[in-house]
Amino acid sequence: MWGGRFSARPSDLMQAINASIGFDQRLAAEDIAGSKAHATMLAAQGIITASDRGAILSGLDAILSEIEAGEFPFSEELEDIHLNVEARLKARIGEAGGRLHTGRSRNDQVATDFRLWTRKHLDLFDGLLGDLMAALLDQAEAHAATIMPGFTHLQSAQPVTFGHHMMAYLEMFARDRGRMRDCRKRLNESPLGAAALAGTPYPIDRDMTAAALGFDAPMANSLDAVSARDFALEALAAASICATHLSRLAEEMVIWTSAQFRFIALSDAFTTGSSIMPQKRNPDAAELVRAKVGRILGSLTALMVVMKGLPLAYSKDMQEDKEPVFEAFDALELALRAMAGMVRDMVPDEARLAEAAGAAFSTATDLADWLVMHLDMPFRDAHHVTGRIVAMAEEKGVTLDALEVSDMQSVESGITDDVVSVLSPLASATSRTSYGGTAPDRVREQVARWRDILE
Ligand code: ARG
Repeated sequence: MWGGRFSARPSDLMQAINASIGFDQRLAAEDIAGSKAHATMLAAQGIITASDRGAILSGLDAILSEIEAGEFPFSEELEDIHLNVEARLKARIGEAGGRLHTGRSRNDQVATDFRLWTRKHLDLFDGLLGDLMAALLDQAEAHAATIMPGFTHLQSAQPVTFGHHMMAYLEMFARDRGRMRDCRKRLNESPLGAAALAGTPYPIDRDMTAAALGFDAPMANSLDAVSARDFALEALAAASICATHLSRLAEEMVIWTSAQFRFIALSDAFTTGSSIMPQKRNPDAAELVRAKVGRILGSLTALMVVMKGLPLAYSKDMQEDKEPVFEAFDALELALRAMAGMVRDMVPDEARLAEAAGAAFSTATDLADWLVMHLDMPFRDAHHVTGRIVAMAEEKGVTLDALEVSDMQSVESGITDDVVSVLSPLASATSRTSYGGTAPDRVREQVARWRDILE
């Protein structure tokens, strides 16, 4: 492509380090879309003829079909997707093919392709997050009143409902979706027409190509247009945060399916057996979802380090931008799909959850609150009295709601039989009616609100 200046071909090593066709062929559809928009604009501006435009457009369509059919002869000598497509176009349509690159450069071309590809994937994640949220919503609705232990420090804290726990994740994934949407908005400006770095003397119409490619506007500074990769960093940051949320839920699934917890069962579809231990059912999919964050956050780190310290405008370092994003997005796509499947199939063990919810004196706060509300005790004193009653229950080996009221009265004489009504896990959760609280009615309200939003 630049034969004029060179007399010898590059060394094999140069070719190996320089070529990106091995991975950037994933940008083929975007590259061709960008070229079609560019050629159409060049003709509309009188820079190329209508007949050249016609030949270029049909040539590009034919090349796309070839690529989709797996019949395109990708060549490492031609370095990257841009030169591969352009050379093929010339081979197919002759001289007109050589006019396509008028008024543009691979620098604005690759920036355009990569933005389009990233945008497409942000839209994909938007949909996949919607599927996952819908799965969480269904579980939350079915289990709005299913009592389970709530934890802090992974120690039993206060009873909550399974539905409330599901809705906590729904909120996280909704914010992830918001981050993807914000990123899409900022990303959606067109670099095309910035050319190598400084713009071009041809009378191009950048608004026209921007609109044709679904961008909101052309980028306002040609140096920035070819140098900026913060759209990819931002997408990777959003992906990393989303992956940490997936990882936390996956971790809970791993814990919950253990014999020690037995809170939920995962389906055959998302678990594996052991080749040696016949009794085993391993939550492999959850474990792998938990692990994917390593790859995704690693990609963010990798690209961040590539970009720091790069002078304006384009440097070949930036060719290293694509693989981390491809790898991270492939991982996130798999993780989102697998998680939605696991959530849909998961079956909570209601009896076991209820039993666990009552363990470890989980309604102690309710007892303290009763003392405050009925005996007008300062909360700190109530905390102390309750601590003594818990110690007594522990000594007797009973749960709080099984302790005799007379025993409690030996610690605090003002306690009456009415206290029993607040000491069951169900009563505890049901009483937490503050906005955002775990009471089944509050959970149902949130389920209804989100159904509205999602539908
Ligand atoms: N394959 C290159 C990349 O991904 C395309 C841009 C090449 N530009 C250049 N000035 N060599 O970055």
